[in-house]
Parts: sequence; structure tokens; C-alpha cells
Amino acid sequence: MAVDLKTREHISGIRKAGRIVAACHKALSKRIAPGVTTQEIDRFVERFMLERGAFPAQKGYKGYPFATCASVNEVVCHGFPDSVPLENGDIVTIDMVADLDGWKADSAWTYAIGQTAPAVDKLMTVAKQALFDGIKQAKIGQRLGDIGYAIQTRAEREGFRVVTAFAGHGIGRSLHEYPEVLHTGIPGQGIELEEGMVITIEPIVTAGRSDIFIARDGWTARTIDNGWAAQYEHTIAITKDGPSILTRWE
Ligand code: MF3
Ligand code: CO
Repeated sequence: MAVDLKTREHISGIRKAGRIVAACHKALSKRIAPGVTTQEIDRFVERFMLERGAFPAQKGYKGYPFATCASVNEVVCHGFPDSVPLENGDIVTIDMVADLDGWKADSAWTYAIGQTAPAVDKLMTVAKQALFDGIKQAKIGQRLGDIGYAIQTRAEREGFRVVTAFAGHGIGRSLHEYPEVLHTGIPGQGIELEEGMVITIEPIVTAGRSDIFIARDGWTARTIDNGWAAQYEHTIAITKDGPSILTRWE
């Protein structure tokens, strides 16, 4: 296995796809509210991408049937959009990938529905901090283990856990490229980060146990103890100037 290193032109292609994803998340942040269904969100995202000359790369990927993954409360990831209205106090993670001219960008974000409980706010805050702690390590010369260690340390120090059943990944022409980006790790271990690598970092943090199971639909991952999960994901380029977040909007 080898890393597909990207040129500046390649990175600029991924960034263009990333800007669509970022703008879509920003639009969602204003429209997600009690009563909205994840099916409506899914249709909005698909239309948003198509109107901008991109398409939702998750749809049809390994048979996945929707433009987005919509994971509510104890759903860890890969939830199916459905017609159940979101309720005040829920959280929902919307994961999406835009393909623009063959370049892909991937980002997931957890949204609070109305007023969430303080413990849930903390879960979301820590998951987001864990992502940004990981991103800080995404520099030339650092190793993948440094990213995983930073994420795990943040989550566990705050009393949360990191799901190890799913990982980030290289991204570019394909949605999932080498290497796998684990969200736990040992400093100084794993492959060294090089200029031109483009990866996703996408920790899933849980309030209870981090063990998961896959539902009978073959996709929906849930915590076994029904504890809630939050996930934040960005697509990041490793550059001479440090980590460059290609899906940033907040
Ligand atoms: N965006 C997800 C990821 O981070 C992809 C989920 S799998 C899919 O890798 F089939 F739903 F696309
Ligand atoms: Co991803």
C-alpha cells in the first residue's frame, strides 16, 4: 500500500468539493430544528450538491442507499435518513461526501436539536475538541499515532470514550484511500505524515461504552449500551504551512 500524494492542483480540486460540503453544513446548521426529518435533510443535501455541479458520493457507495448518513442519539454512524421528526433534545450527525469533477471531500457534523441536556452539550464539545486536537497533529513529520493519541487523550481525560470500530482515511479520487486514520494510538507510531497527504479525521466519541453493533439493515451502527455518540469530521491536507482544513465552515 502506498499513499497517493496530491499536488497543489489536486488539493485545490478537493478544496472545491470541500467548499460545497462546508456550505451545505452551514446551510443545515440554520435549518435543522425540531420537527425536521432526516429524509428532508437528505433531500436538501442531494439537491444542494447537484445544483452546484457536484454529486453525493455516498449514494450507491458499497450499496449505501442515501446521499447522507443521519445518525440520531445512540446511533454511532451510518444511520439511514427516515421520516421520523427530530425532537427537541435530540442530536443528529449528518455525514456527507461531495464529488466535484472526480475529487471527493468528506465531512460529518453533530447538530443539537433545540435545547440539549448539559451532559449532551459536553459530549458534543469534547468530540469537537478531540477532532481539533487531532488536526493539530496533522503536520509533516508527525505520525498517525500522534493524531490518534491526541484524540483519545482528550476524550478519555473528559470521561468519554472513542469508538475504534470506525476510522478516518485517505481521500481524493476515491472516498476511501490508504492510510486508515485511527482515532486512538501511541505517539511516534504509525506512518509518517508527508506533504500532499489528504486524510479525514473523524472521531466518534461516546458517553458510555464505545462498543457498537450493526443493525439488521447492514449499516446502522449503534452503541450496545444505548449511550449517545457525537462525531465531527473534516477533510485535511498536510501542507508545508501545516494542516489545511478543506471542509471548514464554522
Ligand atoms: N462519509 C463516511 C466516511 O467517513 C462514509 C460512510 S460509508 C457510506 O467514510 F457508504 F455511507 F458512504
Ligand atoms: Co470519512
